[in-house]
Amino acid sequence: MNDRKVLRWGIMGAGNIGNRMAGSLTAVPNNKLIAVASKSAVKAKEFADRHNVKNFYNYHEIVNDPDIDIIYVATTHNFHFENAKLALEHGKHVLIEKAFTVNAREARVLANIARENKLFLMEAIWTRFLPSINLLKSKLLNGEIGIVKQINISYGKFVGPDYEKRLKDPALAGGVTLDMGIYPISMVCYLLGEIPINIKSMTRFSDLGVDEISNYMFRFPSGCLAIICTSYNLEMKNEAVFYGSKGFIEFPQFQKGERFVINIHDGTNDIKDTIEVFEKNHIDGFIYQIEEVYNCIMNGKLESDTIPLNETIGIMDLMDKMRAEWGFVYPFE
Ligand SMILES: NC(=O)c1ccc[n+]([C@@H]2O[C@H](COP(=O)([O-])OP(=O)(O)OC[C@H]3O[C@@H](n4cnc5c(N)ncnc54)[C@H](OP(=O)(O)O)[C@@H]3O)[C@@H](O)[C@H]2O)c1
Repeated sequence: MNDRKVLRWGIMGAGNIGNRMAGSLTAVPNNKLIAVASKSAVKAKEFADRHNVKNFYNYHEIVNDPDIDIIYVATTHNFHFENAKLALEHGKHVLIEKAFTVNAREARVLANIARENKLFLMEAIWTRFLPSINLLKSKLLNGEIGIVKQINISYGKFVGPDYEKRLKDPALAGGVTLDMGIYPISMVCYLLGEIPINIKSMTRFSDLGVDEISNYMFRFPSGCLAIICTSYNLEMKNEAVFYGSKGFIEFPQFQKGERFVINIHDGTNDIKDTIEVFEKNHIDGFIYQIEEVYNCIMNGKLESDTIPLNETIGIMDLMDKMRAEWGFVYPFE
């Protein structure tokens, strides 16, 4: 690590999210984007010009630049494993966009390489770091609605043209579960602090053969049940409701909203109290996850406590099991 305590980033993949992250990195002090890599030299140069980035590379050049501390893997899901492996094998810390990998087997290999080489590795589920989400988590864990017994979440939208190609293509490991379902799946695990022990799921396939609407039912070790519906081509209500023994919490605009409502019934059918909670998130929600990566690396931590690798692997296992229930195998698997 350099002695100026600046974390020097490189981005692999000059697409949508790489561009967004380049902007966010300028907003967090002591983090600097110094290189971008793309399979296309033209795209890399354009990206570098747009974001005023010094170096534009191919993938082998970026991992061989000794000035880079951390690589952000911002490619489509099918490439995450090989891109992250290349970076780790060249001694770089790595942040990988969600979904971490295509399956749990790949996730385990990456975690092992990172651990053996004492490198930081994390899945970029940025919403776990939002202040509003962390306030919600503390309310649930502090028993504001008693024992949490049931969670219902809908998370669906019509994806825009920039994202459509990736989401619909089996060769890019598209489909709603790896792309969007991962958010509510990862979020219920985070909020409850546990991973489901029983799952049942169903999907509807698109014409091109990826899951376009998927429903998941979970039972957690605590006994809490969850139902999650997700889609990339339906506008859903996009809300979460948490039902407990003493009340329920409504969270509209799940999961990046800033407001939720706690309804207390104290075990009766009458609402006795309604409390509105508001917690402001920064307009650029990515900054919190950048701060987390910075703090972990500067403090010599190889994993984030907020999203540890074993939890990422456990969630990849869940998604593997659900895909197995549907007989859904990617063409390259
Ligand atoms: N956190 C969030 O809010 C958020 C939002 C959207 C997406 N994501 C995640 O970010 C990652 C990338 O998504 P994105 O929307 O940025 O993807 P994208 O713009 O479609 O593609 C990103 C990069 O992947 C490579 N790629 C894309 N299509 C390819 C193809 N047909 N053949 C070969 N390479 C291809 C390209 O890399 P090169 O530049 O090297 O050619 C491209 O620049 C995914 O993991 C996605 O789930 C996260």
